Amino acid sequence: MSLALIVLAAGQGSRMNSDLPKVLHPLGGVPLFVHALAAGQALQPEHTVLVTGHGAEAVEDAALRIDPDIVLVRQDEQLGTGHAVLQARAALAGFEGDVVVLYADTPFVTPETLDRMVAARTQSDVVVLGFEAPDSARYGRLMMDGERLERIVEWKDATDEERLVTFCNSGMKMAKASVMFDLLSEVGNQNAAGEYYLTDIVGIANARGLACTAVACDEAEVLGINTRAELARAEGLFQARARAAAIENGVTLISPETVHFARDTVIGRDAVIDPFVVFGPAVTVESGAHIRSFSHLENAHVGAGAVIGPYARLRPGAEVGDKAHVGNFVEIKNATLGTGAKVNHLSYIGDAAVGEATNIGAGTITCNYDGVFKHRTTIGARAFVGSNTMFVAPVTMGDEAMTATGTVVTQDIAPGDMAIGRARQEAKPGLARRLMDRLKAARKAREEG
Ligand code: UD1
Ligand code: MG
Repeated sequence: MSLALIVLAAGQGSRMNSDLPKVLHPLGGVPLFVHALAAGQALQPEHTVLVTGHGAEAVEDAALRIDPDIVLVRQDEQLGTGHAVLQARAALAGFEGDVVVLYADTPFVTPETLDRMVAARTQSDVVVLGFEAPDSARYGRLMMDGERLERIVEWKDATDEERLVTFCNSGMKMAKASVMFDLLSEVGNQNAAGEYYLTDIVGIANARGLACTAVACDEAEVLGINTRAELARAEGLFQARARAAAIENGVTLISPETVHFARDTVIGRDAVIDPFVVFGPAVTVESGAHIRSFSHLENAHVGAGAVIGPYARLRPGAEVGDKAHVGNFVEIKNATLGTGAKVNHLSYIGDAAVGEATNIGAGTITCNYDGVFKHRTTIGARAFVGSNTMFVAPVTMGDEAMTATGTVVTQDIAPGDMAIGRARQEAKPGLARRLMDRLKAARKAREEG
């Protein structure tokens, strides 16, 4: 069956109390809307439509970065969820398949649950995803008659008796596109909120003799984010699942509750993650690598058997080779370290390539920025960089070359050469002792006088 996905992301999210649109608040290191979008895209829809409104430009920018083929439609005034879905009508003109409607603020729905909705659609014209909520709060209520869903009542419009119903509306819905849009064109806004409710399509469908049903899932899957407190709770749930999944996949987490993952973190089997490690977006760690405490990684790749940290920072574009070492207080940015290369102490390696088995001494810096432009440093294989070397980029150091401690490298170094660029040491016999005696005498004179 061909599918089109519609993700609603136009709402203001006023209860977030934020200038940032709700759906751009991060969850698991990516914008909130990405979670529902990815679950829907696992069904391989022919079209994906994102309905934007509040903060549309920022939301659209973020969406295009994730999926350049996404169809963007605007809902200029947020007149309700039904009105929002109708905005996708023109974009899907002529589309003969089914539409699945997801809410961008409902991140945990799984592709498996959506598959069950697809299966239920073979028997019913409209399928709604529902859940049992013992404390059903302000959710819409699903009014069932056996397997048949008769109508959905929004909390605001429900009678006391209807509010006792605990089977609730997740918001997610599925129907043939033409049926969905036909039903929606009949939805009015005569209700407590004065909004065009998507939920009203169910009552209208029943009046037309169409069959509606609900598929049930766990409440945890359809948790909607409306406040910062709910977002923080969702982050906790996301992290708990990410940790459990990593452990299940053969990763050792010494202290799981202190490790922070992003949605797209990939960690290989037998990698060891020590306590207090943060994975920002787009990190891959190959098997057997060891990430030690207080390290922060984003947009980085760590090779098999490499050791990172403690206290290391891998910034975007860090490519750490197999068995390489990045030690304490070392920052790597947009740089590759070859197999077995070592940068163990107090260094900045940015816009650089370091060859295999090269050793970078403590305190080495690639001076990559002249205030306007960034420049590259290239260091060959099996080179030995003395402590406190400054590479004034652009500069190249050949294979098996060396720099003396404290060298400021301003010219290329040929393979096998040694570069020494520092002031020559001079010895002043006895001067230290004479100087100290003089200073102490001066202090004594001051105290007495
Ligand atoms: C909605 C449902 C309710 C359900 C609950 C589940 C309706 C009428 N109500 O209520 O039955 O129990 O979700 O979480 O559908 N949006 C737009 N344009 C709008 C309004 C909303 O794009 O004009 C988007 C929002 O960005 C959000 C989603 O639709 O992603 C849901 O909107 P929200 O206002 O949170 O609906 P609820 O009141 O939670
Ligand atoms: Mg909501």
